[in-house]
Amino acid sequence: MHYKCTYHPIIIIFVAVFIRNVITKAYVTRQNVLLIFIDDLRHLVDENVPLPNLSNMASSGVIFKQAYAQQALCAPSRNSMLTGRRPDSIRLYDFYSYWRDTIGNYTTIPQFFKENDYDTYSVGKIFHPGQSSNFTDDYPYSWSQYPYHPPTEKYKDAPVCKDKVTKKWQSNLVCPVTVMKQPGKSLPDLQSLDYAVNLLKTRNSSKPYLLAVGFYKPHIPLKFPKQYLEKIPIDKVKPPKMAFMPKQMPIVSWHPWTDVRQRDDIKRLNISFPMGLMPQEWTLKIRQSYYAAAMYVDDLIGVLMQYVDLRKTVVVLTSDHGWSLGENGLWAKYSNFEVALRVPLIISAPGLPHNKVNVPVELIDLFPTLVELSGIQKDIPECTHQDKSILCFEGKSLVPLMKATQNICGEIFAISQYPRPRVCPQKNSDKPRLKDITIMGYSIRTKRYRYTEWVGFNNTSFIINWNILHGIELYDHTMDPEESNNLVSTKYNNIKRYLSKLLRSRVDPQYLNSTKQI
Ligand SMILES: *[C@@H]1O[C@H](CO)[C@@H](O)[C@H](O)[C@H]1NC(C)=O
Ligand SMILES: *[C@@H]1O[C@H](CO)[C@@H](O)[C@H](O)[C@H]1NC(C)=O
Ligand SMILES: *[C@@H]1O[C@H](CO)[C@@H](O)[C@H](O)[C@H]1NC(C)=O
Ligand SMILES: *[C@@H]1O[C@H](CO)[C@@H](O)[C@H](O)[C@H]1NC(C)=O
Ligand SMILES: *[C@@H]1O[C@H](CO)[C@@H](O)[C@H](O)[C@H]1NC(C)=O
Ligand SMILES: *[C@@H]1O[C@H](CO)[C@@H](O)[C@H](O)[C@H]1NC(C)=O
Ligand SMILES: *[C@@H]1O[C@H](CO)[C@@H](O)[C@H](O)[C@H]1NC(C)=O
Ligand SMILES: *[C@@H]1O[C@H](CO)[C@@H](O)[C@H](O)[C@H]1NC(C)=O
Repeated sequence: MHYKCTYHPIIIIFVAVFIRNVITKAYVTRQNVLLIFIDDLRHLVDENVPLPNLSNMASSGVIFKQAYAQQALCAPSRNSMLTGRRPDSIRLYDFYSYWRDTIGNYTTIPQFFKENDYDTYSVGKIFHPGQSSNFTDDYPYSWSQYPYHPPTEKYKDAPVCKDKVTKKWQSNLVCPVTVMKQPGKSLPDLQSLDYAVNLLKTRNSSKPYLLAVGFYKPHIPLKFPKQYLEKIPIDKVKPPKMAFMPKQMPIVSWHPWTDVRQRDDIKRLNISFPMGLMPQEWTLKIRQSYYAAAMYVDDLIGVLMQYVDLRKTVVVLTSDHGWSLGENGLWAKYSNFEVALRVPLIISAPGLPHNKVNVPVELIDLFPTLVELSGIQKDIPECTHQDKSILCFEGKSLVPLMKATQNICGEIFAISQYPRPRVCPQKNSDKPRLKDITIMGYSIRTKRYRYTEWVGFNNTSFIINWNILHGIELYDHTMDPEESNNLVSTKYNNIKRYLSKLLRSRVDPQYLNSTKQI
């Protein structure tokens, strides 16, 4: 999120700076921090899916209606959020590099708290496991003890779903299960919950804590206790409002959702690659199971919250990115569409009343926000471009927005990005490795518009070539919240020019100073 006051000629109220000065002294005791990450959970709040525990949190905390991930892929998004730096700054667009070894020894959120005398714990999926967190979830830098992974995580993709058609155990996408018949007689999120609750009950330390609990669902496979299906009957499930490719969409924007079609139950539908659409029956089935998996996690969060003292704890609930459930003809993440980038974000903190924030914010804003809310007094500078210092912020604290009773300042926006290997969708278009990336889609979301440019990208020098333009997208959310109609070849010329300049000034050092002339 950025404050920028040059665009809207309407009254600009400079309360941001004022509020920030007032609240600096407000928190003296150091608060506990509870981070809840829900893997691949999109912003479901407007979809009539009963998530009573999330709603409960939202009604007492601050709910952000327009929060965005920096990239719709787990590892880049999580490393970006946890270091407070954009994927371009940690140079991670795939799963295969660890920032401390490749780009800079940057401080993470949990590490900051650990170094300020907190006990820090990771339970479940917080860092993306594997190379991008050095196969240790960034232990020991980020955590006081070795991160906990539930033992049943190893059956993640195992053929444990009883298929109704073949009567066999398969690796299905849609996978409601009887928990007691599963290997290990449990599921990863149930085990993580037990571990986290036990930790909160038995912890014996005078230090405050930062506890990060990462739930694995509703990430695919959609494997969850089958009783949740009954809570959302299939005849209550609606299809997406816009199930087809947007008008005028540049082909580079499309991705073939390979991991969805590879699952046993989807594979046998023979959906043509790469542009074929999901049959309606399965669209509804997948949506039903995604919602059921989200309701399952909602229940677990209800249990977890019973052990949290809200008078002493800052709670953040979010996700690493959104998920397309058939909107625009797409599934999964891997794109710059609204549904793939928008995340739920709820923050509650002692002394902060309920509020709604209706302007775009970014997941890189979490780091400065948490530092401010925790009561740790530190003057941490804003990062300059490609800043190599181990601690600086690319995002902005959200506390002024959380306390504001009216909109703060002119133009506030969020920036995201997604790489592609080629213009035409191919097998690796969903998740290209760095060495295969030749195109980057940069996307800017203001309160009203989403504007995206797909441009040339050099995977060795990391230089952006704005002259190699593979596609432009402009969606006007006041008229078209589904992003069904790309307005690029229509009359919005001033808007396009303005958003293009703003976007370039934020992502490319060559344009760093150009917004001054807007
Ligand atoms: C990285 O930072 C950590 C914590 O500040 C420090 O302990 C470590 O020595 C640093 N590593 C390098 C290679 O500078
Ligand atoms: C990452 O892991 C490798 C192999 O264990 C180790 O050599 C390297 O020092 C680790 N990097 C950091 C920054 O700790
Ligand atoms: C907590 O730890 C302290 C010091 O390690 C010990 O004296 C005390 O008995 C412990 N309390 C409980 C309830 O385990
Ligand atoms: C998919 O293709 C296989 C092999 O060609 C065929 O046996 C099967 O009936 C097809 N399924 C559907 C749903 O079209
Ligand atoms: C929260 O989750 C629990 C189960 O953990 C459930 O019983 C309860 O109805 C949910 N809703 C609220 C508002 O607590
Ligand atoms: C980078 O992209 C080019 C194509 O522009 C490709 O040939 C090359 O192998 C890629 N990888 C690296 C590490 O340069
Ligand atoms: C990418 O940048 C490197 C280093 O500047 C250069 O040698 C290479 O030719 C560039 N690759 C392309 C495809 O432009
Ligand atoms: C941007 O402006 C600053 C200060 O005026 C200057 O130091 C810097 O070199 C400029 N950057 C570019 C890329 O022109």
